[in-house]
Amino acid sequence: MKEEKSPNIEIMIANEAHYGYVDLILETVAKAAKARGTGIASRTHDYILQKMKDGNAVIAFVDGQWAGFCYVETWSNKKFVANSGLIVSPEFRGMGLAKAIKHRAFELSRTKFPDAKIFGITTGLAVMKINTEIGYRPVTFSELTDDPEYWKECEACINFDVLKRNNYTRCLCTGMLYDPAEHVGNEMPWKKKEEAKESKIEKWKNALKKIFSLPIANGTYKGKNKDIEH
Ligand SMILES: CC(C)(COP(=O)(O)OP(=O)(O)OC[C@H]1O[C@@H](n2cnc3c(N)ncnc32)[C@H](O)[C@@H]1OP(=O)(O)O)[C@@H](O)C(=O)NCCC(=O)NCCS
Repeated sequence: MKEEKSPNIEIMIANEAHYGYVDLILETVAKAAKARGTGIASRTHDYILQKMKDGNAVIAFVDGQWAGFCYVETWSNKKFVANSGLIVSPEFRGMGLAKAIKHRAFELSRTKFPDAKIFGITTGLAVMKINTEIGYRPVTFSELTDDPEYWKECEACINFDVLKRNNYTRCLCTGMLYDPAEHVGNEMPWKKKEEAKESKIEKWKNALKKIFSLPIANGTYKGKNKDIEH
């Protein structure tokens, strides 16, 4: 039987080794926007490159192949942070990559901008699910940044006329907000799950180590308190 190899997934803060991926990222975003018939924050080559230079981007690889991307932006004098431009390459969708990338971007945002509220706007169910799990809640646009530069991104969206007609107060996207003040002592629940999983594995490893290092001779273990007969 052929052995199934699990893919090697790497998720990291983008650095100079990744500058060469900017065009591929932009191309994939453009194709996805066309396929969805809606807007995804479209940015220039220089903008994405600068995000990488500033350590404000997360990039993912599967078996060494580029697989996904997301970047962090600050708005309203760093009172708000957005985790934007999430994209996963079509061949790697459905394996939890978007979730892992968003988790990494969230950690990055909380570390670099601990006082900022984190927000996003989306029409995508996947992003709504991921954000809700992190602790975002749906809000009206009045709760989000009023930085005009942020809303300028929407000009590339086919629904921009709806936003403009409503004086930037509502559109087809749902606004989602994570306010750190509402999660004191209860952040990043997935980390706790991962830690619990790791400690379970460690426990098993230690138990197995103990068993295999027992001084078994002639089928008899002379333990501290009792003998175990085979
Ligand atoms: C949306 C996108 C980022 C999801 O990437 P992904 O790696 O396939 O997502 P994940 O595997 O991490 O899935 C995360 C969750 O969303 C769900 N999900 C994924 N794609 C979905 C879809 N198209 N519709 C509904 N739910 C979806 C998953 O079931 C999972 O939910 P669960 O935690 O309850 O199991 C990817 O399809 C993509 O790049 N699309 C084009 C760009 C885009 O839409 N970006 C978002 C702009 S707001």
